[in-house]
Amino acid sequence: MAPVKLDMDRLIDDRRTRIVVCCGSGGVGKTTAAAAIGLRAAERGRQACVLTVDPARRLAQSMGLTSLDNTPRRVDGVDTSGGGSLHAMMLDMKRTFDEIVEAHADPDRAAQILANPFYQSLSSSFAGTQEYMAMEKLGQLRHADEWDLIVVDTPPSRSALDFLDAPQRLGRFLDGRLIRLLTVPARAGMSYMKVLNAGFAMMTSALTKILGAQVLKDAQTFVTAFDTMFGGFRERAEATYRLLQTPGTAFLVVAAPEPDALREASYFVERLDAERMPLAGLILNRVHVSPAARLSAARSLAAAEALDVHDQGDSPGPRYGLAAGVLRMHAERMNLGKRERRLAEHFTSAHPAIPVAEVVAQPEDVHDLDGLRVIGTILSQQSP
Ligand SMILES: Nc1ncnc2c1ncn2[C@@H]1O[C@H](COP(=O)(O)OP(=O)(O)O)[C@@H](O)[C@H]1O
Ligand SMILES: [Mg+2]
Repeated sequence: MAPVKLDMDRLIDDRRTRIVVCCGSGGVGKTTAAAAIGLRAAERGRQACVLTVDPARRLAQSMGLTSLDNTPRRVDGVDTSGGGSLHAMMLDMKRTFDEIVEAHADPDRAAQILANPFYQSLSSSFAGTQEYMAMEKLGQLRHADEWDLIVVDTPPSRSALDFLDAPQRLGRFLDGRLIRLLTVPARAGMSYMKVLNAGFAMMTSALTKILGAQVLKDAQTFVTAFDTMFGGFRERAEATYRLLQTPGTAFLVVAAPEPDALREASYFVERLDAERMPLAGLILNRVHVSPAARLSAARSLAAAEALDVHDQGDSPGPRYGLAAGVLRMHAERMNLGKRERRLAEHFTSAHPAIPVAEVVAQPEDVHDLDGLRVIGTILSQQSP
């Protein structure tokens, strides 16, 4: 069954499209796709902003993303003759977290939180913080309303679902029982401490023994200080989540034509459906096609073998080892292409209504605006 083709230009030309989110498992091309779509949209007249998470260094440099100041910067070298513009920023997870603290706590308390070792480890390493911060930043950018299209790259998680799950997981963690327990003494004050039952006192002293008094105190001050802000945190994460459900959002699932990536894409597609989040299509990235597709793998291999036989005989003519090697490589590529096609068809038969755009594997990494333009053009010119 042939898949429905994704009409990328219609998607990015539609002024009602305000947010495009590129999701997918690690290494499939999310950052590349997000940047290519942002660039194309800008060159077709939109005020676009790309929120990237982990661009490779050369790509970052070519987009002018050299300073990590956590605000969108104008990208040079973009054709703005259509009236559009491109801004880009690279998400600095810790900086975003710090900014929230600074914006929502009074200066003393903010300083106290920022210096707290628990805060420092949570803000820079807790699994899910990056996803949460990507959502937070998206909420901020959308709220600022300076761009009419925001293209979001998602963090390099193993699983595409992390982008949707992590903010809530972080919420559950901060809301969790251990955290509650740690904060009880600080919240209740000393008078309450006196009437605490012996069991709880023992528990606290056990924790003190395990964690050390200073660590326990740090944890308590962190959570108490954080608690006053946390309602806001969760509310904003929920608001952004709802924003993702509005029709102005378009999810694009990026996958490589490989079993794991496509399985992941399937999960993600089902999840979006369950959450009523608008899916625009699948980008099947890095597919292999051969320019000499008329020569089948089987015939190519047969020819290679014939050349081998010729070389082994005692005819005095030229040797054909190199030609045989090229033919074998061609056969391998044809077989790879066939395998990829089968995997893609498997996905399409499970999700026949999902539009697909295929991007052929480029001979080189995509590391500059020209490379992004090529990807954008391929994405938009899916022959029927
Ligand atoms: N169609 C493609 N052809 C060749 N290289 C590609 C293609 N798409 C992505 N790449 C390269 O693959 C690498 C990973 O892509 P990236 O967009 O960073 O993936 P992700 O963000 O999903 O981890 C990058 O070096 C990028 O330049
Ligand atoms: Mg990436």
